[in-house]
Amino acid sequence: MNNEFYIPGQVALITGGNVGIGRVTAIELAKKGFKVVIAGRSLERTQPVLDHIKSLSVDEHPLFLPLDLGSLASVRECAQLFKQLNLPLHLLINNAGVAGLRGLTKDGFEMTFGINHLGHFLLTQLLLEKLQASGPSRIVTVSSRAHKRTAGIEWDALRRSTRSWTGIDEYAVSKLANLLFSAELAKRLQGTSVSTYSLHPGVVDTEIWRALPNWARPLLRLRGFLTPEEGALTTLHCAMHAPQQETGLYYADSKPREPAALGRDSELAAELWRRSEAWVSHN
Ligand SMILES: NC(=O)c1ccc[n+]([C@@H]2O[C@H](COP(=O)([O-])OP(=O)(O)OC[C@H]3O[C@@H](n4cnc5c(N)ncnc54)[C@H](OP(=O)(O)O)[C@@H]3O)[C@@H](O)[C@H]2O)c1
Repeated sequence: MNNEFYIPGQVALITGGNVGIGRVTAIELAKKGFKVVIAGRSLERTQPVLDHIKSLSVDEHPLFLPLDLGSLASVRECAQLFKQLNLPLHLLINNAGVAGLRGLTKDGFEMTFGINHLGHFLLTQLLLEKLQASGPSRIVTVSSRAHKRTAGIEWDALRRSTRSWTGIDEYAVSKLANLLFSAELAKRLQGTSVSTYSLHPGVVDTEIWRALPNWARPLLRLRGFLTPEEGALTTLHCAMHAPQQETGLYYADSKPREPAALGRDSELAAELWRRSEAWVSHN
């Protein structure tokens, strides 16, 4: 394929690579010659993926770093540990995500927003210097078509516990935040060799739906599930093939797609950035 970005031996850090879309993404990147670092909550649950990558004889030392995106202290520690590896960083994949969880993160943010957006926002900030020093490099953030299901970001709601019955309203806000973050990041990275993409992977049969009420799952099945292998394709496209000049765009089915109007709102993106910066610096 044209526009190939990667060179075997480059380093990729992926969040949530133990199951689902992230697991397939990590394995496929390793097959392409990336040195893979998986950041996640459990080494035990990630070990089968690390063993699988080793068994492919492509990356004999895939690495694991502890990361709980629901704790800003854990995010800081993860970034610090990555820096201590003294590796370059060519690809950051903000993949991990939750849906349907309730409550607050350790730092007092609505659970889904805190994990899906704020944790990744801080992780990216802390690794940006490394990404710039390793350029050309890219940041891929897994958003969702669910970003279209919200009428806006209610700022106060981000500091309270989850209110909606299914948690889907909060999920939609978090996925809008993923998309706006990626678009604003692209603006801020103009003139550098770091590009950034957000994407919808499709509706994929993974564990993300485990926290939803039982009645909601059959409805999703009716809409047709993709396999995790199919669900990883757009992430992999953005990671390895999307042209650098398409930085900031939102992808689905491995093609740039127009997001919902709110996803194109540059003032909202700038406001989210300012608030996120303040939140992570005070917590
Ligand atoms: N599946 C879909 O239909 C769909 C559709 C649109 C977008 N997406 C997006 O695709 C991405 C991947 O989701 P998936 O479908 O592959 O779901 P999944 O199978 O549930 O995987 C989610 C990953 O996120 C990790 N994670 C959850 N909470 C975390 C935390 N606090 N800190 C660090 N890691 C955490 C999980 O690790 P643990 O094993 O430790 O929980 C797991 O590795 C998400 O961003 C999701 O929003 C999925």
